[in-house]
Amino acid sequence: MVNWSDSERAIITDIFSHMDYDDIGPKALSRCLIVYPWTQRHFSGFGNLYNAEAILGNANVAAHGIKVLHGLDRGVKNMDKIVDAYAELSMLHSEKLHVDPDNFKLLSDCITIVVAAKMGHAFTPEIQGAFQKFLAVVVSALGKQYH
Ligand code: HEM
Repeated sequence: MVNWSDSERAIITDIFSHMDYDDIGPKALSRCLIVYPWTQRHFSGFGNLYNAEAILGNANVAAHGIKVLHGLDRGVKNMDKIVDAYAELSMLHSEKLHVDPDNFKLLSDCITIVVAAKMGHAFTPEIQGAFQKFLAVVVSALGKQYH
């Protein structure tokens, strides 16, 4: 059970209420596929991922990036039961998709970078701390099925 302060709860709720899913989702997933190219192996059905330009212009990557970012909504809505909220997705990623759980952290860091770039000075250390704590808890919950 994770302890959340009132200010952490407020920060997380606020960030996601302003989240531009259609912009951040595609940018975060494409960044992950470009800088950690081994993650591409799970997306062979997405078409051309031949180079950075192809990845950035790939509509399947963009759509999946939006879907993944919306995958964080269940954590925002269930901050006091994040492990339960991700039980199904953890099962899917481990047993069906066989994604190495180390990659969850890599994608979550890409999400942080893209959110930070978009928020600029508004992404204060306090906000960064709360956001990265939230993502770390989600990543841990996603990895639960692997333990
Ligand atoms: C599918 C969330 C990380 C590979 C999904 C889905 C969600 C999701 C919501 C759709 C599930 C459904 O259709 O029922 C997340 C979250 C992540 C994460 C929140 C971490 C922050 C990753 C990583 C990889 C990955 C790191 C691979 C390197 C996949 C694949 C699918 C999928 C291959 C199925 C795609 C398809 O063919 O439709 N993920 N994911 N995920 N995820 Fe993740």
